[in-house]
Amino acid sequence: MVYLWAILAFGGLVVLLSLVLIIAEKVLINYGICKLDINVGEKPLEVDGGQTLLQSLFANQIFIPSACGGKGSCGHCKIVVTEGGGPLLPTETPYLTRKEQKSNVRLACQVKVREDIYVRIPSDLLSVKMFTSTVSISETMTYDIKLIRLKIDGDEKISQRPGQYIQIQAPSPDGPVFRAYSISSPTYEDDSVEMMVRLVPGGIGSTFLHELNVGDEVIFTGPYGEFYLNDDPETEIICVGGGCGLAPMKNIIFSIYDKWPDRSCWLFFGCRGTGDIFYLKEFKELAKKHPNLHVVYALSEPEEGADWSGETGFVHLPVDKMLEPDLERQAFLCGPPLMIEAVTRVLEDKGIASDDIFYDKF
Ligand SMILES: Cc1cc2nc3c(=O)[nH]c(=O)nc-3n(C[C@H](O)[C@H](O)[C@H](O)COP(=O)(O)OP(=O)(O)OC[C@H]3O[C@@H](n4cnc5c(N)ncnc54)[C@H](O)[C@@H]3O)c2cc1C
Ligand code: FES
Repeated sequence: MVYLWAILAFGGLVVLLSLVLIIAEKVLINYGICKLDINVGEKPLEVDGGQTLLQSLFANQIFIPSACGGKGSCGHCKIVVTEGGGPLLPTETPYLTRKEQKSNVRLACQVKVREDIYVRIPSDLLSVKMFTSTVSISETMTYDIKLIRLKIDGDEKISQRPGQYIQIQAPSPDGPVFRAYSISSPTYEDDSVEMMVRLVPGGIGSTFLHELNVGDEVIFTGPYGEFYLNDDPETEIICVGGGCGLAPMKNIIFSIYDKWPDRSCWLFFGCRGTGDIFYLKEFKELAKKHPNLHVVYALSEPEEGADWSGETGFVHLPVDKMLEPDLERQAFLCGPPLMIEAVTRVLEDKGIASDDIFYDKF
């Protein structure tokens, strides 16, 4: 009992001291104006010290991916800090490989600007923009997935690569937050973006999007993402999605067939029961026009007596069963982490190099 009280008292003291330090830093310490240099003089800025690097960049219209909204729990906000970032923090290390740590990669949401700071940001990210838009479609796809289309206001256009995502701004009690959603509309539709959003009970971003009506205003930034589609039409494309991971696959597949009508492409989509199936009819229609598109849906838990004659089991099983080994291929995977890991193992066994397997886990 004495030990328990001692531990509780010690814990309480640590929390109290941390709070005092945070408040003291906010109230008493003035870091003044600091220099924020991007890409060795390409974009020299002056920012108020004391904010995180992510906030300072955002205030200057430089939008770094931040799927968790700066909470330090997604690992998406990586940038290289060559000088002035202070020591690596324990909150960053779980998201950085040894190689990244050695190369001065940091999480922008964890690094505070306390002195002049020098960073390197890829040109792709420097061209990310903020858009205002209006909901033009809000349509129920399944019991928990909605398709939402945002028409970009005015004459602005978005230039995206297949498989990229945007970050929508949603209101929260602590101020606006951003959440990532894959773009499901193809690249040639550049005046709007479409998303497929699964409702997470109590979730800020997904609830906000599910409650939107046609005509509502939405702010978003983008496009983001590391997917690069190989331009060689002889390279076969493998798309594997689970849940809302179908969204980027729709973008990739429709963009491909707009450009290369005969390209070989496989779509594997894994869902639980028949109630989770969506967009199958549309993909089957596309496959009638483009016979080199192969569409395979797999149900992991089909209901008893369900009207289903397709594949069953987790989606990596049909991937393993149907793909011949050792072809020239590139693969795009989106869905839950376990699905990504299982499918990646299968694809590597089939001879696809890890550099040719792109994925987003969510
Ligand atoms: C690159 C990328 C692309 C994405 N694309 C899509 C997409 O196309 N469609 C889509 O619907 N989502 C997508 N997501 C996920 C999306 O960004 C949000 O994480 C998701 O909508 C939950 O956000 P929220 O604000 O509603 O929930 P939050 O307010 O962040 O979380 C609320 C609670 O739910 C829990 N929670 C959070 N996420 C999940 C989850 N997935 N399942 C169960 N519990 C959860 C949290 O732990 C928390 O307790 C993507 C994520 C990334 C990183
Ligand atoms: S924004 Fe998510 S870890 Fe930095």
